[in-house]
Amino acid sequence: MPEALNPWSAGQAIDTRRLFDDFGIEPIAPLVDLLPEVPAFMRRGIIVGHRDYRPIAEAIRDRRPFHVLTGFMPSGHPHLGHLLVMREVVWHVRQGGHGMIAIADREAHAVRGLSWEDCDRYGREYLTALYALGYTGEAYFQSRNGALKDLAFEAATRVNFSELAAIYGFGAETTLAHAMSVITQVGDILYPQAAGEPAPTVVPVGLDQDPHIRLSRDVANGLRFFTVEDRGDHVSVRAKNAPAGALEAVAKALPGSKRYEGHVDVRGVLHGDVAELVRRVERDFGGFGFYLPSATYHTFMPGLLGGKMSSSVPESQFGFAEPSAAVRKKVMGALTGGRTTLEEQRRLGGEPERCTLYELNRFHMCDDDAELAELRRRCMAGEVTCGACKRETADRVEAFLADFRERMDEVAHIAAEI
Ligand code: TRP
Repeated sequence: MPEALNPWSAGQAIDTRRLFDDFGIEPIAPLVDLLPEVPAFMRRGIIVGHRDYRPIAEAIRDRRPFHVLTGFMPSGHPHLGHLLVMREVVWHVRQGGHGMIAIADREAHAVRGLSWEDCDRYGREYLTALYALGYTGEAYFQSRNGALKDLAFEAATRVNFSELAAIYGFGAETTLAHAMSVITQVGDILYPQAAGEPAPTVVPVGLDQDPHIRLSRDVANGLRFFTVEDRGDHVSVRAKNAPAGALEAVAKALPGSKRYEGHVDVRGVLHGDVAELVRRVERDFGGFGFYLPSATYHTFMPGLLGGKMSSSVPESQFGFAEPSAAVRKKVMGALTGGRTTLEEQRRLGGEPERCTLYELNRFHMCDDDAELAELRRRCMAGEVTCGACKRETADRVEAFLADFRERMDEVAHIAAEI
């Protein structure tokens, strides 16, 4: 398996083209028009792709139920690199989604070797940041959610080691706990539908997490009792793993349907209505009736020094609780797209596409498109020096963090109770 697709080693170098061509991730742009309100991260191409986002966009538009879930590995303090996904979740909840956050302490413990105490402490920092950004949904720690662990075990009945080897490059030396943390993530992704009602579920993630999304979709499908197919003039319901009596119950619930050995055919009923009814029967017989989970995929903001943003390179990001003087210093020391001399800068202008601070503004610090465009124009026209632009950006960051911290103080008690 190519390194670029391994979630534990992925860097900036993810081959977007290949993911689109070979794995069926689709560009998000055509679906954006369905949304009543388009957030900056969708307007600006920060979210580049999706899998099956149409049911989510339609649920938002039609005010129908949907879930939004993502997970955070509590392997360090939350920082700038986590802000985007947090905002995506908060936005989807505001659009009517039922929110669920998984704190992936099993993964942090199994893969990164963190103690449970550290997982707990960091996990609460993530939750505090989320609530401060306006999150109003539910949250859990993997290690303390019994129903999640049961669901992960059920999911495990549908995955074997050769699949894990093919998807993640796991081999004979992989620990069983690592494999368990993978299936726990599959459990996370399906959990909102199992704990609540089946509904489309969107999982906002970075491109590196796509292997988990694909595996979760396979498992969701594998756990279904039935497939429901549109055959043009009729709809056909086929039993796959259905327990005795379940197909009979489907036939009964569909008046005028024809029951065959392994399937039931019905005319004059919409595919969507049959699918809904079949989900209900499936639940009555102890199944899940899952919708296949959807995902959005975002690109990664570069670190402030260029290259990868990472907890292990302190200068590449800042934590939400870092003192402002330290944050200011990091912003002032960031790699920009400026020229080597002032004369060149005035004559040629700067290069925003090579500037980490332009990216910082585009991702997070400048919500107004016109203002961002003006910032870009002034840069390219050579009207502003990098020093001045750094100061302006640092001011924005400082204002953002001051407000953010105040809110974090206000909501810390909520995170303490999870
Ligand atoms: N593996 C993810 C990470 O490394 C964290 C995670 C755990 C997650 N469970 C999830 C992400 C469910 C999305 C959905 O960051």
